[in-house]
Amino acid sequence: MRRVRFHAYGGPEVLRLEEAEDPVPGPGDLLVRTEAIGVTLPSVRRVRGDGKGGGDPLPGVIGGEIAGEVIAIGSEVTGFAVGDRVTSLTLTGSYGELALAPAFLASRIPDGASAVEAVALVRGGHVALAALSTAAPAGGESVLITGAASGTGHLAVQLAKLQGVPRVVAAVSSPAKAEFLYGLGADEVVTYDQESWGEPVDIVLDGVGGELLPRALAAVAPGGRLIFFNSGGGTVPAYELLAGAKTITGLTMRRFSTVHRERYERHREELWELAGAGRLRAAVHAELPLADAAKAHEIIEGRANLGKVVLRP
Ligand SMILES: NC(=O)c1ccc[n+]([C@@H]2O[C@H](COP(=O)([O-])OP(=O)(O)OC[C@H]3O[C@@H](n4cnc5c(N)ncnc54)[C@H](OP(=O)(O)O)[C@@H]3O)[C@@H](O)[C@H]2O)c1
Repeated sequence: MRRVRFHAYGGPEVLRLEEAEDPVPGPGDLLVRTEAIGVTLPSVRRVRGDGKGGGDPLPGVIGGEIAGEVIAIGSEVTGFAVGDRVTSLTLTGSYGELALAPAFLASRIPDGASAVEAVALVRGGHVALAALSTAAPAGGESVLITGAASGTGHLAVQLAKLQGVPRVVAAVSSPAKAEFLYGLGADEVVTYDQESWGEPVDIVLDGVGGELLPRALAAVAPGGRLIFFNSGGGTVPAYELLAGAKTITGLTMRRFSTVHRERYERHREELWELAGAGRLRAAVHAELPLADAAKAHEIIEGRANLGKVVLRP
């Protein structure tokens, strides 16, 4: 099969399309012929040697989400068969014509939905719903979302409105993203460099972190909460928590999907129901061939995407 790896840390230019042995499914795996592969900020960061916990071993493989057809199954897999169309998170890389999907992270793609839609909807939608359900906005509470035009953020904006949040503020790096976000239902759009982000909010869903974290925390009203789910790290100004009686809660999908298994399953159904009814739109910013993985990473590094960036093998 053909796959993309990197042999040195760096920018998009270090990505190499190579021939490789086909992966062999372990007992709990599905072997999937990929039809769509999601590009995400955490993968882009790992190529820079900037992943969680430091640099990956080299040569590095990246990519955490796929959709495609099951072509083989591991000896212990139940509930899936060869020929099923699935979408899944992957744990051993996904930038290839074939990828291994742990069966416990996979789900079937409903009839009539495309692989690209599945990749654009499911991972980002799960993160958005997990962040919203962790924050649990009560009646009348307001929400601000950083990285609001990202694959995850643009779904969070729509889902917050669908959950009845009266004031959803979308925070982004560029005013060029405003029209897109108003089109998805945002009530206000602010850019990070604006002096004021308007009235403080009850809840911040922070998909950016890093240097923006103190700013995001300052936007939380006294007694409010910030859900921290980004790969940007950052330092918390602890006195602000004390003085404003604010709360920060961390969220990873790895933990949420296992500890809150029932909620996670419900969220998957909810996403497909909303998408099927035309109430939730997974926007695809760009679809590029696998050979153009570097171009896909350039889009993310340029912070230009309006929605999801997808590779097609
Ligand atoms: N906790 C979890 O389990 C989990 C799971 C999935 C994703 N996430 C997090 O959710 C966030 C969004 O991920 P995604 O895959 O949906 O994003 P994406 O579609 O790849 O979009 C990336 C966007 O992030 C923003 N951004 C912030 N800092 C950036 C930087 N240093 N370089 C490039 N872009 C930057 C940019 O928008 P602006 O320029 O407008 O800021 C950019 O358009 C990430 O922080 C990711 O780590 C967390």
